[in-house]
Amino acid sequence: MKGLNGKVAIVTGGATSIGAAVVEALVGAGTKVVIADIAVSSGEKLAKSLGDGVLFQKTDISFDHDIKKCIDATIQKFSRLDFVINAACTYLDNGMNSTREEFLQSVNINVAGGFVLTQKAWPYLKKTKGAVVNFSSIGAKVAQPGRCLYSMTKGAIHQLSRNEALLLAKDGIRVNTVSPGWTWCTVLDELSGGDKKATDNIASPFHMLGRVGKQKEIADTVLFLCSDHASFITGADIPVDGGYMALGPEQQDDALAKLADAR
Ligand SMILES: NC(=O)c1ccc[n+]([C@@H]2O[C@H](COP(=O)([O-])OP(=O)(O)OC[C@H]3O[C@@H](n4cnc5c(N)ncnc54)[C@H](O)[C@@H]3O)[C@@H](O)[C@H]2O)c1
Repeated sequence: MKGLNGKVAIVTGGATSIGAAVVEALVGAGTKVVIADIAVSSGEKLAKSLGDGVLFQKTDISFDHDIKKCIDATIQKFSRLDFVINAACTYLDNGMNSTREEFLQSVNINVAGGFVLTQKAWPYLKKTKGAVVNFSSIGAKVAQPGRCLYSMTKGAIHQLSRNEALLLAKDGIRVNTVSPGWTWCTVLDELSGGDKKATDNIASPFHMLGRVGKQKEIADTVLFLCSDHASFITGADIPVDGGYMALGPEQQDDALAKLADAR
């Protein structure tokens, strides 16, 4: 894709899972990357495996001083910043039993962390006419069993991103969200015991394409949003969900045929 080679990105949550796939895809496109994550051993291992163009910077995005250190390290090593990818998240969620502390922690990591990073990156993104991609989710748009805090934060990211897009447009900075459906990740790996086929079978009725997403499919969309090909796209949300959100409550069954059969 045009406009990625020689650029510099910060990817929060880039040490594992979908974030790591974004890091790998960016590196493949010639972008230099700073992995900003609390997962030190995976982050260092990934950075080492990808060579000189990748730096791991231990960063807890719930702390402003870590965010500042991350941006300083980026500029010191690569002298510029073009893209901020806010993929880090916590799945901390106890539904209606969530405490105020958990509520605030969830907002702090999932919403405020990305906001403060974007704010501190702003002067550098202004220089490069850069782009921000915030990770939302299908969970932002519909109720899902057992969830409350996580979905609320993902919903907030949509509105935050629209406002960031407007506030930063005058500086030539674009801000968009990606909203993945079920995507192969650490949680699904642990829950299914690594069984991708069983996971696809569970996901099939509510994803039109009959399977969960691949990490690379999400990463490719992030790259598109950063690239020159998306130069007129800002304030938008791109669902990468195999048709999850386009499917109505009838799912994929022919309800009228069921009615006729029931006579
Ligand atoms: N996996 C899915 O099915 C799915 C679906 C929709 C949206 N998403 C979104 O995609 C993104 C990645 O999801 P995932 O499933 O790969 O998540 P994950 O839990 O596997 O990875 C999240 C990463 O964020 C890091 N992190 C957590 N707290 C942090 C903090 N305070 N500071 C810095 N880093 C921190 C973790 O160490 C980890 O590397 C998330 O924003 C998630 O909401 C995922």
